[in-house]
Amino acid sequence: MPIEKTELRRVMGHFATGVTIITTRSNDGKIYGLTANAFTSVSLEPPFLLVCVDKKAESYPYFEESKVFTVNVLSDGQEALSRRFAVSGGPKFEGVAYRTGANGAPILEGAVAFIECKLAGAYPGGDHTIYLGEVQEAETFDGKPLLFFRGGYRTLGD
Ligand SMILES: Cc1cc2nc3c(=O)[nH]c(=O)nc-3n(C[C@H](O)[C@H](O)[C@H](O)COP(=O)(O)O)c2cc1C
Repeated sequence: MPIEKTELRRVMGHFATGVTIITTRSNDGKIYGLTANAFTSVSLEPPFLLVCVDKKAESYPYFEESKVFTVNVLSDGQEALSRRFAVSGGPKFEGVAYRTGANGAPILEGAVAFIECKLAGAYPGGDHTIYLGEVQEAETFDGKPLLFFRGGYRTLGD
């Protein structure tokens, strides 16, 4: 019998992750972003990573339209930002400090890292699409990461 949705979410929540906001843009310059923890590195040569995006997300169509996205790895002071970008639609970027990256997607101030990508592939993943990104630019900053574990936000104890 297939596992129930809420049970799958509960079990998967035992895998501790960082938290990212993945940003992208439309071809006419509108910016989009969503909170995501389905993010992992894939390959060093070539430099690939992947993110999984819900087909129902407002941001979803713009990954394939612009063929660019940026992964912003959140710091422990960015829980409120994570909550804001986990609500669909609306003026998410209002009052948010960001700059426009080389690929045209927003780079959020205060993150511990950003990774700018060019879309390198899109693969079916049920109600999500698995987007492979080829890393174009990346940078890290001081600070501690925001974590997600068992359905709640956490920070490093040290
Ligand atoms: C901790 C956390 C992790 C999430 N991870 C993902 C993810 O990996 N992929 C995804 O599509 N949505 C994920 N979501 C849900 C999206 O953030 C949410 O659906 C958001 O409203 C989408 O924004 P949009 O519709 O404006 O694009 C996550 C939410 C939270 C709180």
